[in-house]
Amino acid sequence: MKTIMLLGIIVTLVASGSAAFLPTTEAATVRAPLLKTQTFLSPPFFLRPGGIANKWYYDVDFPRGHVAIKSFNGDVVDEAGAPVPLHETYLHHWLVSPYYGPSAIPITNSGPCKDLLGQYFGLGSETRRTATWVPDPYGIEIGAGAPAGYEERWLINVHAIDTRGAADKLACTECRCDAYNVTVDETGNRIGNGYVGGIHCCYDSLRCRVEDAFANNGEPPRKLFLRYTVSWLDWSDAVVLPVRIYILDVTDTALFDGSPKPYCKIEYRVDECSSDDRASNNCVDMKTTKEMVSHGGDVVYAVAHLHRGGLGSSLHGQDGRLLCKSMPIYGTGQEAGNEEGYVVGMSTCYPEPGTVKVSDGEVLTIVSNYSSERQHTGVMGHFYILVADHQEQALDKPALCFSFPYSWCLPAWMWSNQM
Ligand SMILES: *[C@@H]1O[C@H](CO)[C@@H](O)[C@H](O)[C@H]1NC(C)=O
Ligand SMILES: *[C@@H]1O[C@H](CO)[C@@H](O)[C@H](O)[C@H]1NC(C)=O
Repeated sequence: MKTIMLLGIIVTLVASGSAAFLPTTEAATVRAPLLKTQTFLSPPFFLRPGGIANKWYYDVDFPRGHVAIKSFNGDVVDEAGAPVPLHETYLHHWLVSPYYGPSAIPITNSGPCKDLLGQYFGLGSETRRTATWVPDPYGIEIGAGAPAGYEERWLINVHAIDTRGAADKLACTECRCDAYNVTVDETGNRIGNGYVGGIHCCYDSLRCRVEDAFANNGEPPRKLFLRYTVSWLDWSDAVVLPVRIYILDVTDTALFDGSPKPYCKIEYRVDECSSDDRASNNCVDMKTTKEMVSHGGDVVYAVAHLHRGGLGSSLHGQDGRLLCKSMPIYGTGQEAGNEEGYVVGMSTCYPEPGTVKVSDGEVLTIVSNYSSERQHTGVMGHFYILVADHQEQALDKPALCFSFPYSWCLPAWMWSNQM
């Protein structure tokens, strides 16, 4: 009975929410807020061939007030506003996070890796062809109020690599330490011998090896911007249901290691397959881990983040059921948004609301596949999901054992510790 009533409410909400996008006025019985959309530019950053920009911009332009974010799309553009293709400026990632100003007290998402991957939005090379629309009647609630003396502000981190003239573009975009000729990280610590590439060899102002003609060509550095388009609705309890953001990371092995805290390494290395594997056509690196979501609910949107070489990623519930499969889209041309060999998009999941659920404290399995035809450094395997709270909280506590991808049980002491 309760469920039927609830369904009724949701159907009404869906109808009124989508009324905002219909041209007819009589469609709306409940007055739906209007969808607003605005495009902003980040401050400029400057790149020479081979250069890296890893910039943090605080207090950037963003919708203000108590609103529901419905989508966030980014793009790297030049001074004329033209999209720059990935084979010229590789967009390693951009991240957008709220914080409390004037000091920078972070406001993070709800995910287990929130200390390192606390952003509300973020993508990489796939940004041009990845849907970010938050389905109706849901929205990401922001601006609900700051503690006295503070105000909510937004920061953007952009990490881009100029690979024009690079001797080995893949080595530059995979942040190989030898391509940048670095032996110490950004804080001056010596990089370990086993570390071949990744974020520690990819900091601001480094330069990747480029052909002589590009190294000192006398041209001024290129002026670039992150252009971002945000769509939002004014907040309305009657029309919008809030979602929690979780970012899951396949490198977090805390549950396996018995560590009480998540240990998210953000990136990992895929080693080249053995000749035996090659002979049997088995050069796939499958990495998997388990992470917990604190609050259950309906999964309303999900997408994975993979780098070049990625083959696919999936997310499973504790019983092994598939929650989402997200596959890379590789470009086939030269133009921005379709660059050959680059991951230009990721497929997304928009489950019918109510059909894909997770429970409070459910342990999810993340699977991330890469081709191991060759070595890849600094690759990532993340899942970004939006979960709407259950409207009623009568869920059974999940069991302590799993069946996917192999039988495995969590020791009870760890489980109770995690709760
Ligand atoms: C690499 O770095 C070392 C020491 O910092 C320097 O002596 C060498 O010339 C550099 N090599 C290249 C190719 O830039
Ligand atoms: C990942 O690789 C495994 C092993 O090859 C395969 O069974 C699975 O279907 C792959 N998953 C995705 C999402 O591509």
